[in-house]
Amino acid sequence: MTPQIIRTLKELREIVAGWKAKGETVGVVPTMGALHQGHLSLVRAAKSECDRAIVTIFINPKQFNNPEDYENYPRTEEEDARKLISLRADVVYVPDGEQMYPSGFATTVSVEGITQGLCGAHRSGHFDGVATIVTKLFTQTQADKAYFGEKDYQQLQVVTRLALDLDLPVEVIGCPTIREEDGLAMSSRNLLLSDRARTWAPELHRAMEEMVEGLMSGGDHVSLKGAAVKRIERAGFSEIEYLDLRTADKLELVETLEQPTRLLAAAWLGGVRLIDNIAVQ
Ligand code: PAJ
Repeated sequence: MTPQIIRTLKELREIVAGWKAKGETVGVVPTMGALHQGHLSLVRAAKSECDRAIVTIFINPKQFNNPEDYENYPRTEEEDARKLISLRADVVYVPDGEQMYPSGFATTVSVEGITQGLCGAHRSGHFDGVATIVTKLFTQTQADKAYFGEKDYQQLQVVTRLALDLDLPVEVIGCPTIREEDGLAMSSRNLLLSDRARTWAPELHRAMEEMVEGLMSGGDHVSLKGAAVKRIERAGFSEIEYLDLRTADKLELVETLEQPTRLLAAAWLGGVRLIDNIAVQ
């Protein structure tokens, strides 16, 4: 069955109120559309753990620091709705800009600390945009559980923090990164890669894996990082924004593996910004 497509907050509220009156639990999967298997894995998790699943699709202008990136972002609503049929999502919520940011809108949710480094350092205002829209989506959907991918690891930590800090009655659940067969992390932005760039893109993940293997066998952080940077540059990436080893919870920079750690990277290939991260265990 095609999931119901809802475009207004009023309709959404009515539907959710009906579910809640019956004591049903609600899971939400916030997305910006151009759905791929990574997104669909979150919908499966929501459907398996909650009575009802809402998928939201909103390309949030406030989290794009670059207007061109916003313009070029893939928009595939009909295909997205088709992909959700077999997953039995209950509602696809596709608000427009006027629903989300009506005239006079003046509030920003801003998370400190954890947003400083990594993507926060390179995409000014990005996490304010994410935190604001996610807070709105939580209150609009009144979800009991919300599903986010580890693919956007810093975002997952930011959202976890804001739900805690604002006492939002929602449990934030992180789900593993889904990859293409060659290791490339699935991303809506992969659609923007040329065929040539697409063949080289998995080198980012391979270089990261090689670096993690080296660290696990006691190798030196600086030389391993140097080798990984060379490998990524050889694959044609034009700029590496960061390739950082950080603590898994607070995302503090480290050089050794004394606590749970994550290797995180962002780099540009053929005009497309790719990010990835892996656990160091
Ligand atoms: P978007 O990039 O569409 O991603 C929506 C959700 O899918 C995020 O939680 C993201 O981490 C997850 N996801 C993306 N690729 C994945 C993969 N390969 N494996 C597993 N999960 C993956 O992230 C956003 O949208 C926005 O910032 C949003 C949270 C919707 C706020 O606007």
